[in-house]
Amino acid sequence: METIENAAVAVEDGTVVSVGDTDDVTEEHPPSAADAAYDAAGRAVLPGFVDPHTHALFAGDRSDEFEAKLRGKSYQEILAQGGGILRTVDAVRTADEDTLLANLLSQLDVMLEHGTTTVEVKSGYGLDTGTELRMLRAIDRADDQHPVDVVPTFMGAHAVPQGMDTDDYVDEVVEEQLPAVAEQGIATFCDVFCEEDVFSVAQSRRVLETGMAHGLTPKVHAEELAHIGGTQLAAEVGATSADHLLHSTEADVDALVDAGVVPVLLPGTAFGLGAEYADAGMMLDRDAPVAIATDFNPNCHSHSMGFAQSLACVGMGMTPAEALLASTHNAAEALDLPARHGTLREGAPADLVVLDAPSFVHVPYQYGVNVVETVWKDGDRVHG
Ligand code: NIG
Ligand code: FE
Repeated sequence: METIENAAVAVEDGTVVSVGDTDDVTEEHPPSAADAAYDAAGRAVLPGFVDPHTHALFAGDRSDEFEAKLRGKSYQEILAQGGGILRTVDAVRTADEDTLLANLLSQLDVMLEHGTTTVEVKSGYGLDTGTELRMLRAIDRADDQHPVDVVPTFMGAHAVPQGMDTDDYVDEVVEEQLPAVAEQGIATFCDVFCEEDVFSVAQSRRVLETGMAHGLTPKVHAEELAHIGGTQLAAEVGATSADHLLHSTEADVDALVDAGVVPVLLPGTAFGLGAEYADAGMMLDRDAPVAIATDFNPNCHSHSMGFAQSLACVGMGMTPAEALLASTHNAAEALDLPARHGTLREGAPADLVVLDAPSFVHVPYQYGVNVVETVWKDGDRVHG
């Protein structure tokens, strides 16, 4: 990563055409009119943040579960009693598409204010074909209507509906949900919660391989609560990313690196669960292109990539530069975005964040504070 002092950025038609010393850039690209130039003197300019893992489309309120967890109840206990994901499923099943769309648009507003210009959003609170499709349609419409780019992921295999046998539900995901999603062409990725007491490695493999046969690229929730082999599965199927990885081993990470799978770490989730953070240092030592994400969802209610960077530094020992790279370039790789996305150089999309602060270090340094002042998306000023 390179930092340039006294820099300027020239943008044409939504694309960065030059970055460098202000005198050089303005000589080569003189601003055509006074109002076409924005003076960011004294403030840092960064690529827009890419948030590569969220469940940002939901309905209902689970703040009481936050309190229950503080009193010692575990995530799994809450889920086993019909709470957690299953409670959000109840709320989403009764919400119509316009309500879901409105919910997501307001979440995207907050994300944009915090500097996120591209976000991945998963389905997975429907757990039946009709509701999963309704979620994906709302995600698709939000992408059309909001300046933030939204990357859609199908996650029918997020939990098992109450009272249903897991194998029967996997049959439904594979035989009914996936073909319907593929027919509508409204998902890029297929994700699965490969976890003890949720979907086994064999069941997860079946979902991901069927998704691939339908043209969906695999992603895996792996090794979040226990180590059951989801990381190796991600490597074997050639997933774009393996996410969470709180219990991944050195051998797991070597397999990811060999297979070109991006490890996506979600420090907000570990923070909220009071769990030990993923071993980012071990992954960086093995040259893994570590990305971070908010995992924004009712169990991890943070929209802020800045807060994720604070936790990456303070909780996982990453440097501010590593945390920024993990929130931009590496996060773009975790979404298979075209080259130069998540960067600030010639040819990159003009997705830019100006901080109310003099350096990128202030993003993680000012924890609990939003230091984002102004945001551009594809060259348009969309916030601040
Ligand atoms: O990534 N672990 C599974 N899915 C989400 C949590 C979703 C929820 O609790 O609503 C996650 O943390
Ligand atoms: Fe998740």
